[in-house]
Amino acid sequence: MQSPPLTDTDYALISKLVYKHSRIHLGDGKRELVASRLGKRLRALGCASYSDYCGILTRSGAEEELAHLVDSISTNHTFFFREKQHFEFLQNTVLMNFATDRAFRRDGCFRCWSAASSTGEEPYSIALMLAAHADKTQGFRWEMDCSDISRPALEAARSGIYPAVRLHEVPLDLRQKYFQRGIGAQTGRYRVKQEIRNKIMWHQLNLFQDTYPFQKKFHLIFCRNVMIYFDRPSQEALVERMSELLVPGGYLKVGHSESLAGLSHRLVQVKPAVYRKQ
Ligand SMILES: C[S@@+](CC[C@H](N)C(=O)[O-])C[C@H]1O[C@@H](n2cnc3c(N)ncnc32)[C@H](O)[C@@H]1O
Repeated sequence: MQSPPLTDTDYALISKLVYKHSRIHLGDGKRELVASRLGKRLRALGCASYSDYCGILTRSGAEEELAHLVDSISTNHTFFFREKQHFEFLQNTVLMNFATDRAFRRDGCFRCWSAASSTGEEPYSIALMLAAHADKTQGFRWEMDCSDISRPALEAARSGIYPAVRLHEVPLDLRQKYFQRGIGAQTGRYRVKQEIRNKIMWHQLNLFQDTYPFQKKFHLIFCRNVMIYFDRPSQEALVERMSELLVPGGYLKVGHSESLAGLSHRLVQVKPAVYRKQ
């Protein structure tokens, strides 16, 4: 079915609302993308035009629809062990430093936050590595927080269920050890074992909300493939908040296409897309 035309005025309003509620910066070039992503939502709501839809978005009590709007616009694309070098670095450098550097280790519990965890492939990739490390390292303890603005993405993540084809990047030993094969109606799917799922604290969180729910600082923050959607002032503000949340010596990992070059920040770059607090 053909979508109604998206006028300049409606596009401007939608862009403004998306920015206000997520800091996702659409700019001028995203009109087609917005129209293609929102067409389904308009049909679901029975809106004949974008101005009808904008009417829904701007009336009082529109929070639920604004969440749908951000969900429709944001990109949830992710996969297990995306950007493999980050996981090698976790194994070879971050965990090694944690073992040998008492000041970095602090209270002895390794804490990690996956800050835009989408449907869970990123945090589970990290968690599988930490669980495997704990299995062979006496006394190693770890905790993990994960967050995303999208409730549906978080629900999918929390369930930990993936079709077999999504698991190709998971090393065989980790797949065999930490996934259950589905049977009956779940044939062809795998589920992350409960012992891993139970270790993770999930939060629905807008990275730009006033306060975060964390009590302790992190040794490692993954904030990958989300900053590209924000404008520069928002990126700077976010990096500053994350720096504040790192222990001294803690690491921030961003996506490989998201260097902090040109941003004002107080972290030291240790590798492409990897930064460290002094
Ligand atoms: C492309 S995915 C990245 C997933 C994963 N980090 C990776 O690199 O594979 C981007 C995620 O950022 C989330 N997101 C966008 N804006 C956000 C915001 N303001 N606060 C929290 N999460 C946000 C989206 O819902 C989406 O799940």
